[in-house]
Amino acid sequence: MNLSDIQHFLSDRAAAFLKRDRHALLIDGQWVPAAGEGTFVTRNPATGKVIGRIAAAGAEDVDRAVRAARQAFDAGPWSKMRPVERQRLILKLADLVEEHAQALAEIESVDNGKSAGIARAVDVALTVDFLRYMAGWATKIEGITHEASVPYALQAEFVTYTRREAVGVVGAIVPWNFPLLVATWKLGPALAAGCTVVLKPAEQTPLTALYLGELIGEAGFPPGVVNIVTGDGPGAGAPLARHPRVDKISFTGSTEVGKLIGHASVENMTRFTLELGGKSPVIVLDDCDPEVAAAGAANAIFFNQGQVCCAGSRLYVQKKMFDRVVGEIGKIADGMTLGHGFDAAAQMGPLVSQEQMDRVCGYIDIGRSQGAEVVAGGGRQPGEGYFVRPTVMVNVDHGKRVVQEEIFGPVLTAMPYDTIEEVAAWANDSPYGLGASIWSNNLSKVHRLIPKIRAGTVWVNCHSALEPAMPFGGYKQSGVGRDMGRAALDAYLETKSVFIAV
Ligand code: NAI
Ligand code: MG
Repeated sequence: MNLSDIQHFLSDRAAAFLKRDRHALLIDGQWVPAAGEGTFVTRNPATGKVIGRIAAAGAEDVDRAVRAARQAFDAGPWSKMRPVERQRLILKLADLVEEHAQALAEIESVDNGKSAGIARAVDVALTVDFLRYMAGWATKIEGITHEASVPYALQAEFVTYTRREAVGVVGAIVPWNFPLLVATWKLGPALAAGCTVVLKPAEQTPLTALYLGELIGEAGFPPGVVNIVTGDGPGAGAPLARHPRVDKISFTGSTEVGKLIGHASVENMTRFTLELGGKSPVIVLDDCDPEVAAAGAANAIFFNQGQVCCAGSRLYVQKKMFDRVVGEIGKIADGMTLGHGFDAAAQMGPLVSQEQMDRVCGYIDIGRSQGAEVVAGGGRQPGEGYFVRPTVMVNVDHGKRVVQEEIFGPVLTAMPYDTIEEVAAWANDSPYGLGASIWSNNLSKVHRLIPKIRAGTVWVNCHSALEPAMPFGGYKQSGVGRDMGRAALDAYLETKSVFIAV
């Protein structure tokens, strides 16, 4: 690859990886081209330039990967490994990710557009912590024993207990906004539980998953335990989702595709976890410091260029503070410098792709045409790359598309409210229910509001805080099931009840 414009920012490891002419699929411990020899390219969103040519898996490759995962689960060394050995391998992988943190952050930055510094401090750091957290669960998988009372066998005595068993072969389909981190949210609990995995990274950002694949080999996981099939949704994702020998699908992405995956899964009774879109409210009560609330709300929407499933994209401010808070956010937005991922002065990067930039700008136009007033930003930043100015809209009716639909970019709609009851109703007037934040120091109001909000996470005086032990997932159309925490481990386990008449 021609890396002349970014070469000087890259560490040796990242440069060596990006220099390769082709990136292959990982199937049964081997790096192989796609059966049809097809490839696709991935681009640097800051410039639009091609930075990698990647094998495009099709149904035949997915089938080979699933068979390899099946064999590793049913009969390979992995199936006989003691939990403590699985734990050791996952901890070893965490050490390797930590050792390669800089290269992973740089590759994530050029593939996704995000800042390399933030990728290291957030994406890679959380990946390491999460792997270590999940490694611990491998040795803490427990069933119950039980005194049976079988009513029609009064004379019999039973020993009864439950076993938690790995669900089997997992298909993990992940998006492009936190490529390495979300792949790990699937891999961590799957491997701790004893499952094997076929991972399908997003076609926009396949590189860190492939780098991770090499670290997985170096850590010593047996062949077939983790397979990686790069490709697009219809070509590689769909055959994985409908494959009859996959036992569980774990998906993060759009609600639209999540529904397709749910339908395909039910056909085979494949278990599924779906972490989908959001339109998360940020609720500012009038007792708090307007500057603190404004800085928090700006960060809630502009972090990661707004490409965050739980981004705070609907802002509700109590009437008397509305102008002050929205004015502050407008100032923050107008003052933000946009730049590539290695530009230390940049506060925001490009969106992931031309398609996403067009989609986000399309929503800003829809907002305008439906009567919204744009008070900051309002479209793309001229020049190369997929940059969109941080945008704030006001005077928009609650039923309009920019309030109801996920935009997945740096676009905030702000609305004033009068009472707590009113804001609770508005917060819930959405098909989504992933997250919400409340900004206030009035404990009793906060505690009365928390149970009213139909969302998987409620943050108070913060937004998008995540940590390995806290479950993350959605109510309503934001999904089914939870990533992270013990809840995630449970989703990769079946329960077997055992009755022994003694
Ligand atoms: P998407 O849902 O199409 O992509 C996510 C993953 O699903 C990718 O790996 C993709 O290849 C795969 N996929 C696509 N179609 C598939 C199919 N038919 N069967 C199996 N797998 C399939 O998301 P996309 O198109 O990249 O983004 C569109 C919108 O989705 C965004 O604007 C945003 O609103 C939302 N989104 C939400 C995310 C979240 O974290 N909740 C992440 C990415 C996108
Ligand atoms: Mg890319």
